[in-house]
Amino acid sequence: MSKTSKLRDIWYSLSSNQRFFIRRLYYLPKDTLDSITGKRHRYVAPRGYIYTGSPASAEDYLKQGRHQLEMLKQYANLQPDHSVLDIGSGIGRTAIALTSYLNENGSYEGFDVVERGVQWCNSRIHKEHANFKFKYVPLFNDLYNTATLKASEFIFPYADKTIDVAFSFSVFTHMQIEEIQHYFNQVYRVLKPGGVCFSTFFLYDEVSEEYISKKKDFSFPVKKNGYRLMNENVKSGNIAIQKNKLFQMLSQEHFEQVKIIDGFWKDEVRDTAKKEYQDIVVFKKS
Ligand SMILES: C[S@@+](CC[C@H](N)C(=O)[O-])C[C@H]1O[C@@H](n2cnc3c(N)ncnc32)[C@H](O)[C@@H]1O
Repeated sequence: MSKTSKLRDIWYSLSSNQRFFIRRLYYLPKDTLDSITGKRHRYVAPRGYIYTGSPASAEDYLKQGRHQLEMLKQYANLQPDHSVLDIGSGIGRTAIALTSYLNENGSYEGFDVVERGVQWCNSRIHKEHANFKFKYVPLFNDLYNTATLKASEFIFPYADKTIDVAFSFSVFTHMQIEEIQHYFNQVYRVLKPGGVCFSTFFLYDEVSEEYISKKKDFSFPVKKNGYRLMNENVKSGNIAIQKNKLFQMLSQEHFEQVKIIDGFWKDEVRDTAKKEYQDIVVFKKS
């Protein structure tokens, strides 16, 4: 096991509150400096609050969000007057970029299982953009919280056929397989006919399976039926799904026109033609 994998296992063995506290402390000097030098942006949380991946400077965080917006425009044909649903809205990375894109006929709904993130978004983004709404839903995720409700039974709090584009950036990489299946069912229900879902995943096939099971620093050693886990004890730590399994899961919910844009996370030798790290999957409701 590589040093990075060992460190990740130790990190995963801590509670979500312990991880939050350590992150806050670790980034405190940089966050304080940013504050003094005026490098904070009013919509971007301090690095120590950014629990959704690598904490970035405000400038980088805004850039990442703009990149996510470009992907939604390119692959999901997102338009300024669309109603969008952000599944796992985090601390607003995509929402911030969308505030400069959606017009007054467009609307944004986001939900997440981490209350701190939702509170941040409501206090910063919703406050200035009434058509941006964020909901906290207390669903259990063993990487992020100690809530008790089950994501596999959660009914999205949105009416049928009301969403043009649903999306999730790096969320179906942190959920359990039966939860993902249930979320596909809910996405289908809330999408308008012709509506599109854009999501990122870690996907593999028979060619890449062996490599990803042992890959240095980022491997999925735990084999399950049609998917693999990074850590048996933290089931939402990271999940990789077999492509055929994903097709079955989507067709079970009647999704059509499934398009996969492979990412380079699983390349033994990086294919430089691939731009994104994770795999993108775009699927449509007829
Ligand atoms: C890697 S972060 C990505 C956040 C955001 N999409 C972004 O791009 O910044 C994954 C997010 O998924 C959220 N999450 C995990 N399980 C969830 C669930 N069952 N429903 C909704 N969100 C969930 C986490 O709280 C976290 O905010």
